[in-house]
Amino acid sequence: MSQDTAPPVPRERPSVPIPGPRGRARLAAVAAFRSFDPGVYTRLHRAHGDIVSLGLPRAPVLLFHPDQARQVLRIEAARFSKGQTLAPFRRLLGNGLLLAEGDSWFRQRRTVAPELAAPRLETFLPRIARNTDDLLEHWHASARNQQAREVAEDMIGLAFRNSGEILLGEDLSGELAKVGELTTQGARITMRRFGALFKFPSWVPTPDNLRRRRLDAMVDAMVYGVLDRHQQRQAARADTEPDPPCLLARLLAARDPETGAAMDRKQVRDEIVTLLMASFDTTGMALAWSLHLLSRHPEVADRVAAEAQRVLGTDAPSLEAIESLTYTRQVLHEAMRLYPPILGLLRMATEPVQLGPHRIAEGENVLVASYQVHRHPAFWPDPERFDPERFASASGKPPATARTTNKREPYAYLPFGRGNRACVGEKLALLEAAAVLAKITRAFHVRPAPGPAIVPRHLVILRPENGIPLQLSPR
Ligand code: HEM
Repeated sequence: MSQDTAPPVPRERPSVPIPGPRGRARLAAVAAFRSFDPGVYTRLHRAHGDIVSLGLPRAPVLLFHPDQARQVLRIEAARFSKGQTLAPFRRLLGNGLLLAEGDSWFRQRRTVAPELAAPRLETFLPRIARNTDDLLEHWHASARNQQAREVAEDMIGLAFRNSGEILLGEDLSGELAKVGELTTQGARITMRRFGALFKFPSWVPTPDNLRRRRLDAMVDAMVYGVLDRHQQRQAARADTEPDPPCLLARLLAARDPETGAAMDRKQVRDEIVTLLMASFDTTGMALAWSLHLLSRHPEVADRVAAEAQRVLGTDAPSLEAIESLTYTRQVLHEAMRLYPPILGLLRMATEPVQLGPHRIAEGENVLVASYQVHRHPAFWPDPERFDPERFASASGKPPATARTTNKREPYAYLPFGRGNRACVGEKLALLEAAAVLAKITRAFHVRPAPGPAIVPRHLVILRPENGIPLQLSPR
């Protein structure tokens, strides 16, 4: 978690204005943001280069080059904060790990990170395997009836069940409809706010603010319910019985090494919401986009299936087995390159920062636009082509984490972010996604179902506009 020391800002250096669309082109770009079209990043990059300003108040400066990503996320990370960039999420996520800053962030990260590290991960695998098998039973029934499945919905449902059990020790599937409303409605509200020319403060009772309050109240009821049930179960448990392997139990047992204090109820709530919301939609969409690509590239799917057949036994797979699914991981990485669930990393400059010839003023927002960094033609030849071979390592060893995938330029690949605020759940996400994808692909051929084109939309995370319907047939 160490950080390079930020170099001093050469204050006397003149700043070259940041290029960007003006006049009608600016209106077109704003309209594209308001219709949640991620292709706007590619168009702006092509038209204006590696750094683009829309010239609108509070709109972030868009960054498309890996060098800028390195500067913001690592070299000058101390000069950036999450600040108010994620203001619409503050009420929902509170001071959980994603939004916390400074000492509070450091203490939380120190508590959570070991719980999501390798030794713990093995204990999660049997649940992931069992939940996947349950879903595949439904898939067999659909295949028998020649019914297509909406796999984006299925993958989010599976990831939600996995996250509930792994993180909170409870199957929360019954709450999925409510949480689905939260993510789809919440995403639209947030993106409308993002593209709005005037932003009402959250206390003004606009229709969106009222909707948001209702969603927040619903999340509070769900999360405090989880917490209460967990504590009742713990109280009913004999003292000698070990805690079930879930993160919530650990958070409740954690004590601050300096003060000896436990987390208070509000902090535990914030942590639960953060971990739940950060984990299931992202992992679910990584899987859904992977299946979308496999359905269009049957030769790649056959290779994944052959690897799964070779590596997975009949029992719950071991950590070692999942980690040796080299090609499956290449497919996942390539899918997250083309369809990164988190499209961009937002930061606010806490002091002036020099980015090449351009100056970012104190208080200005920047967005490292991972979606377009992943398509930068200087780093990814023929960027729109799906080619898992991009992630084949010379050693033939699987790329264990995103950090080791692109040896040439690590900051050209940012699905889990980078620097000290990189995703704390990366290992779990990759393990879960590889285990699920291998099991699915070993059991089924997936083909596109007839229907409208699959259109990616930037709704906080990258989602398909009309879902991803696939036709299944058993292998
Ligand atoms: C494919 C799945 C996932 C993707 C693509 C993903 C992506 C990301 C990204 C890009 C960030 C950095 C955000 C930034 O720098 O502004 C992040 C942070 C974070 N992620 Fe994930 N994530 C995934 C799965 C998970 C899982 C499974 C968990 C929890 C179990 C999780 C928990 C978090 C948390 C708590 C943070 C904040 C870390 C900090 O600031 O210290 N994520 N994630």
